[in-house]
Amino acid sequence: MDHGPDECNPLRNIVLVGFMGCGKSTLGRVLNQKLSYPMTDTDQVIEEQTGRSVAEIFESDGEEGFRELETRLLKSMLSSECNHHIISTGGGMILRPENRQLLRQLGFVVWLYCSPEETYSRTSRNSNRPLLQCEDPMAVINKMLTERSPMYEETAHLKISTSGLEFDEISCGILESARYHFGTHPESENAS
Ligand code: S3P
Repeated sequence: MDHGPDECNPLRNIVLVGFMGCGKSTLGRVLNQKLSYPMTDTDQVIEEQTGRSVAEIFESDGEEGFRELETRLLKSMLSSECNHHIISTGGGMILRPENRQLLRQLGFVVWLYCSPEETYSRTSRNSNRPLLQCEDPMAVINKMLTERSPMYEETAHLKISTSGLEFDEISCGILESARYHFGTHPESENAS
């Protein structure tokens, strides 16, 4: 899955990508506790910066408007040299080719995935995801997962299933792989 040294960058963030409901936020919090790297959730930052919820942004500016905010946020994180953070991203962050490159420049990218059925059961509990507010969310999940999987694959250095494993175990696997990727253990560096 590691596609080689296509990015010469010194940034040591751990970037979580994956479909809605795959566990990015939960795992981000576990990694945050283990590494004491601050956690940045891109949806949350966009909501704070705009003073609107993701659902409101979709409603007023459409999906493209939201995607533009995502790209701007990635660019600003790179230009401010955001470093030693756990970055949890919205599930569609990988849709723009430009974003896929920006994500890899930010650090070690981990694709979290689970089955369509698990995705459905995890996302059906709340109604804050505009793209799944439809008659047949399972069909939408299947379609979007098929379309997006190659994009997650292209972006990520590591792919990890979140089905059937404890988040603690998953986080250990990620930290071990990050150590090889960065050439040192993330914990041995001072967070900034
Ligand atoms: C989206 C995923 C959401 C949020 C928005 C769009 C997507 O984030 O960014 O609703 O296109 O998959 P989560 O993956 O955190 O739910």
